[in-house]
Amino acid sequence: MVKSIEEIKKIEIACRKSKYILMELGKMIRPNISTKMLEIEAEKLMKKENVISAFKGYRNYPASICISVNEEVVHGIPSESKILKEGDIVSIDVGVIYEGYYGDCAYTFKVGKVEEKYEKLLEVTKTALLKGIEKAIAGNRVGDISSTIQRFVESNGFSVVREFAGHGVGRSLHEYPEIPNFGEPGKGEILKENMTIAIEPMVNEGSPWIKILSDGWTVVTEDNKRSAHFEDTVWVRKGKPVILTKI
Ligand code: MF3
Ligand code: CO
Repeated sequence: MVKSIEEIKKIEIACRKSKYILMELGKMIRPNISTKMLEIEAEKLMKKENVISAFKGYRNYPASICISVNEEVVHGIPSESKILKEGDIVSIDVGVIYEGYYGDCAYTFKVGKVEEKYEKLLEVTKTALLKGIEKAIAGNRVGDISSTIQRFVESNGFSVVREFAGHGVGRSLHEYPEIPNFGEPGKGEILKENMTIAIEPMVNEGSPWIKILSDGWTVVTEDNKRSAHFEDTVWVRKGKPVILTKI
């Protein structure tokens, strides 16, 4: 799943647009807005940026973005009846297609002021992503990323979700290699120069275990404690990795 430089340029445009849309949505977050309103705004932004959603219709997913609130881990479906309130944490996941190429990113936002333990959950998840990204170097193995994320998260008293993982991305949404958020250093696939991969720790406040709601999509924590999710698409090189989902 190595890309040409021409392909990486297109992937980079898709990535920048996805991050731009994600951050614009972040600015709209406030108490009393429904997640459906954010979905509508996301669709407007995608139209303006000449991209289409990478999620809508993917395995019959019914919306353009995913919005997962509090105990929802990932894949929350925007809904008119889901209203944000002060103190919530909201994970938004945006994936877009630009001229056939994909970008994928996610960020967990706060609604107003949140309790200190949730501030820490967000900070640890965001830092885990950055530490994982630092290991995305040609010649390293997937397990170097996975274990770095797991160790950092667990040493801070939180847990990583096992059932979902990061992934190669670019010509399609989910490509090889798979990038789990747990594992052993020195194990797994060797990373190659010019791979483009999405790294996406999903971190739970309590137990790592999850269940899926009857809508067939929404992933929630088994213990109903909160969860955070940060994702970036990264270009693997011989030296320092490049975060493509950067504005
Ligand atoms: N960013 C998520 C992922 O990489 C989003 C998938 S949502 C889906 O898996 F609807 F497209 F499945
Ligand atoms: Co992803």
